[in-house]
Amino acid sequence: MRVGVLTGGGDCPGLNAVIRALVRKGTRDYGFEFLGFRDGWRGPLDNITMQLGIPQVRGILPRGGTILGSSRTNPFKIDDGVEKISKNLQANGVDALIAIGGEDTLGVATKLADLGVHVIGVPKTIDNDLSATDFTFGFDTAVNVAMEAIDRLHTTAESHHRVVVVEVMGRHAGWIALHAGLSGGANIILIPEQPFDIAKVCELVESRFRTNYSPIVVVAEGAVPAEGTTTIIEGETDAFGHVRLGGIGDRVAAEIESRTGQESRAVVLGHTQRGGTPTAFDRWLATRFGLHAIEAVHDEDFGTMMALRGTDIVRVPLVEGTGELKLVTPELYAEAEVFFG
Ligand code: F6P
Repeated sequence: MRVGVLTGGGDCPGLNAVIRALVRKGTRDYGFEFLGFRDGWRGPLDNITMQLGIPQVRGILPRGGTILGSSRTNPFKIDDGVEKISKNLQANGVDALIAIGGEDTLGVATKLADLGVHVIGVPKTIDNDLSATDFTFGFDTAVNVAMEAIDRLHTTAESHHRVVVVEVMGRHAGWIALHAGLSGGANIILIPEQPFDIAKVCELVESRFRTNYSPIVVVAEGAVPAEGTTTIIEGETDAFGHVRLGGIGDRVAAEIESRTGQESRAVVLGHTQRGGTPTAFDRWLATRFGLHAIEAVHDEDFGTMMALRGTDIVRVPLVEGTGELKLVTPELYAEAEVFFG
């Protein structure tokens, strides 16, 4: 059997660990051949391929990024996109395609599976917002990067009696903000699921200063003010219609400074959260997703996605992972609120 592999969407630590596991087990246990498609769905769309075998996956386990490249190409937004993909898969003799991606990449995989393409999905995103799986790989690394930054920012904020607002990724879901904020001892956490009132944020900032400590505010990039309290910055959209975010951290810091008179700085962690070597947990999860995905190919269990349930890897229909985003619940947010102010 010839297996195509692609990685789509925002890159994420652990992608290479999945690719390595697929190729190692597929070659050793089943005698499969592999073909790499470059840059997400652009690869099968424009027939951009690369050799993928044991030599190409040697040494890539700890490497961040993806050796296959990535893009946010949406074939359903391109004339004859689906036909081009089917034609190129056939021309390359590819019998099964493994798509490693988040809601958008796997959303495309779901539609292609419905059209009869032999696709298997592996969930990835640092945002951890895919349903059906307890965790996605990349999330743990992003949380650790953000936690370390928060630890460092505490000491400099204390020295200067400043407010530091730390902007983390998370467009629709506040998982990174919540986990990094809790583990880094943030004094306020703002997430997209809970629109915030800037007046309340300022009260918490002032109460923190009254105890002679400097507040650290962690804000997810997709956090929004409650209606009527302040405005947000709009940006361009990508091929999946997502707004390019960024700017809420600066905005919150400026509002805090003007309302409380306390010097405030914003730090945007941005793509540092996505780059670099994966944590042990992410290497473990990504490797196991790869091993199980290649078994699914062997079983010809197409249209499925790998998912973590407890410590087990299970197969679920692709649509279960992409149908609905997994959001932070009010109960989980309330746990963190104990430490606010
Ligand atoms: O989807 C993952 C993610 O990391 C989001 O949290 C963020 O909004 C987005 O990617 C930014 O990605 P890029 O800058 O690559 O478009």
